[in-house]
Amino acid sequence: MITTPLLPSDYLDLVSPLRAGADLRGRIEAVHPETGDAATIVIRPGRGWRGHTAGQYVRIGVDVDGVRLWRAYSITSPANGQDGRVTITVKAIPDGKVSNHLVRRAKPGTLIQLDQATGDFVLPQAKPAKVLYLTAGSGITPVMGMLRDTVLDDVVMVHCAPQPQDVIFRNELLALVADKKLRLSEVHTATDGMLDIARLDELVPDWTERETWACGPAGLLDAAEKHWSEHGIPERLHTERFRPSIVVTGDGGEVTFSTTGKTVDTDGATPLLDVGEEAGVLMPSGCRMGICFGCVTPLKAGAVRDLRTGEITEAEPGVLIQTCVSAAAGPCDIER
Ligand SMILES: Cc1cc2nc3c(=O)[nH]c(=O)nc-3n(C[C@H](O)[C@H](O)[C@H](O)COP(=O)(O)OP(=O)(O)OC[C@H]3O[C@@H](n4cnc5c(N)ncnc54)[C@H](O)[C@@H]3O)c2cc1C
Ligand code: FES
Repeated sequence: MITTPLLPSDYLDLVSPLRAGADLRGRIEAVHPETGDAATIVIRPGRGWRGHTAGQYVRIGVDVDGVRLWRAYSITSPANGQDGRVTITVKAIPDGKVSNHLVRRAKPGTLIQLDQATGDFVLPQAKPAKVLYLTAGSGITPVMGMLRDTVLDDVVMVHCAPQPQDVIFRNELLALVADKKLRLSEVHTATDGMLDIARLDELVPDWTERETWACGPAGLLDAAEKHWSEHGIPERLHTERFRPSIVVTGDGGEVTFSTTGKTVDTDGATPLLDVGEEAGVLMPSGCRMGICFGCVTPLKAGAVRDLRTGEITEAEPGVLIQTCVSAAAGPCDIER
């Protein structure tokens, strides 16, 4: 009663935000530029942090212009880091709210919210004899976490970036090559064009024998999944996607967020999660790409389209939708 409207924990947060028992937070301790548009953020997690396995990602909540936004980032530090800190490496994308904030404006000392690390893009317990890492752009991040964490006997990497200066961690990769710990093929797409997946025969002649971890834009991953399937070895390919594959869009409509009483017009391509956040509605979220179900919300009226499949869901009592991969298919009412 004495502290109302704040809770006692709010006062404790002021003096000890990283203490055990507080909502999991982290403090940004440093920001290191990597390339012209990418930076590594060094984070000291609070007491409740349970660690991670190399290749996993963490969701972070960052305040951008007074709005708390959550995004997922792969952890680039090794799992057994001795100093208790973790790193993520973020590439700023055009108009990207969180990525530009982290790369260009984040300051040491800033507190952020953290979730526990998660994800199954990890090496198995028994080390594979031969590994291929196939990456492009910021897709190098989970693989860098693995390279820093686990020494493998025979590992080849094919990495795509527009030009040499765009290759994140390039000096560290070249040092691994010089130490004979890695064989690296760089594909510079500005001069060589996009990687034609059939070129793997030439770049990595024994690629079919290798357990492969691939991370990059949807085009590369779609081509890889098709290629591995056509060769009858889909189980040797492990992929991590940073965005859902959007296949269909349609007509939008007027969206009502009935709990908050907000109504906005939207197109048929923008996820309702983005529509709600943009309108200032508090929307739960997780991976933002249709895998964690952290965004499910009742659809009270109208219809929505699943952007991955085109499937239409109509409102019925008890119907839940994933707002991160659903767009309005006509007027609809979302219970938020
Ligand atoms: C499991 C997982 C791990 C990830 N790891 C990393 C990582 O290690 N490093 C990293 O930089 N990013 C990573 N991401 C992507 C990251 O979560 C954000 O999606 C990205 O930083 C863009 O957020 P934003 O707020 O800047 O863009 P937004 O403001 O959300 O979007 C701005 C515009 O860019 C488009 N857009 C959104 N995301 C992307 C994208 N990834 N590529 C291209 N266009 C996009 C949107 O459709 C929109 O038009 C990861 C995502 C997932 C799901
Ligand atoms: S936020 Fe993960 S499924 Fe929608």
